[in-house]
Amino acid sequence: MSASVTLGVMSIAEALAPPAESGGYALVVFVNGALAPGAAAAAALGEAAGVIPRAAAACDFKGKIGSALDILAPAGLAAQRLLVLGTAPEKEGEKVDYLRLGGLTVAKLGKAAQVRVLFDFAAPPEDASAAAGDFALGLRLRGYKFDQFKSKKASKDDSENGGPADVKIAGADEAAIAGVQGLADGVDLARTLVNLPPNLLYPESFADKAKELEKLGVAVEILDVPAMEALGMRALLGVGQGSKRPSRVVVMRWNGGTKDAQPVAFVGKGVCFDSGGVSLKPGAGMEDMKGDMAGAACVTGLMHALASRKAAVNALGAIGLVENMPDGAAQRPGDIVTAMSGTTIEIINTDAEGRLVLADVLWHVQNAYKPAFMVDLATLTGAILVALGQEYAGLFSNNDELAERLTEAGTKTGEKLWRMPLGAPYDKLIESKFADIKNTGGRNAGSITAAQFLQRFVNDTPWAHLDIAGTGMSAPTNDLNQSWGSGWGVRLLDRLVRDYYEQK
Ligand code: BES
Ligand code: MN
Ligand code: ZN
Repeated sequence: MSASVTLGVMSIAEALAPPAESGGYALVVFVNGALAPGAAAAAALGEAAGVIPRAAAACDFKGKIGSALDILAPAGLAAQRLLVLGTAPEKEGEKVDYLRLGGLTVAKLGKAAQVRVLFDFAAPPEDASAAAGDFALGLRLRGYKFDQFKSKKASKDDSENGGPADVKIAGADEAAIAGVQGLADGVDLARTLVNLPPNLLYPESFADKAKELEKLGVAVEILDVPAMEALGMRALLGVGQGSKRPSRVVVMRWNGGTKDAQPVAFVGKGVCFDSGGVSLKPGAGMEDMKGDMAGAACVTGLMHALASRKAAVNALGAIGLVENMPDGAAQRPGDIVTAMSGTTIEIINTDAEGRLVLADVLWHVQNAYKPAFMVDLATLTGAILVALGQEYAGLFSNNDELAERLTEAGTKTGEKLWRMPLGAPYDKLIESKFADIKNTGGRNAGSITAAQFLQRFVNDTPWAHLDIAGTGMSAPTNDLNQSWGSGWGVRLLDRLVRDYYEQK
């Protein structure tokens, strides 16, 4: 599996003791603008705390947020290394972001196998247990590394191959730390699914991985090709018909809410490899299309997170898993398929496949499960990258309240959304000469016509579509993520559920 940080707690006094095993440890302390640690940390450090101002003077360290001072072989301490992290605001009103501090700790300590953090502050956080949870989550998110195919195995102190192995957060609330592990596991699962190569992760093997959520109490139903034929999912099946790998739809259900409460539903595009099909993509960069299942990965990671933390909600995750390949049996431009809804679709470009997959999964979820709302996630269009780059995902919705709640969850988690329009005039662009609609709308407004297409398969159910082509894969690395598969959206949707849909 992928490398990850193991977290635990200890007391601040214990943290200063010599290490039980050989190899030593790194000690982390936080200081304010006067270079003062918290009172408990200062008491534990005793006279050794004097190394901090001396070292700071040597390199102009002022204790600002985001800055760090690394002291090797600190006099008077059993630790091999003392990492001092600043918490003093750079600007008026700037707050300490404990999530980022967790990320920064891992970034600075890449090499250390054992880490002890004195989680104590001169200006303590208002909500100490939330701060500890955020810090722990930051450690976990930044500590993820996908290295299972590096045959030169990661050694414990090889900074190239993994962050710190074991971190003890001294003085932190153990329950708060335990509480974020399931969420971090969900993000890591999503990342790993996106990172895995397409010869290993294909519709059946993806479905097998989703099936593993049964261990957490999730009910998992797998629809095979005959089952989908019986339902009439010809739009989805048309995409997969050129592949040796049979398509699958997986429905995951977590029933943590009251018995008859309508479920909230999440739907993911799971194109395990998108070659474009007969409308073949150019070769350069095609390998990235192993990540065209990032929406499905997010939904699976979210279900993992909700079930691990026993969320008080009925949640449903449905993923459409296919491989889009060119072949003698593949779908052609010009083909007309009938979706499960009865809508006929003229295929103009076999590379506009994601919307065909989602059309049938959205329709099925809406009718079979009558959800309170549906949110779909899809690496749907290159055009969303043109519009928003990799900073925001595109948000399309038929419901203002759902759109606002999602936007707010995005602001809180940093997985940001920008709302884009839908509207009847765009619908004209997908009218077909031969069928009810066609699967592409021309060059202009490419992300909008794709969303408009999806809306044809949603009736009155509140629905939102997130176009994550820019954020789900190949994302720019940052304080919290160094992985190609970003796991984007798991924290966003966990937040949405937590803030608005859990029965408390
Ligand atoms: N999977 C792609 C979209 C994509 C592009 C995802 C770049 C991630 C990065 C999607 O299936 C696709 O090929 N879309 C076409 C649609 C077009 C044919 C109307 C596109 O965006 O070019
Ligand atoms: Mn495509
Ligand atoms: Zn695609």
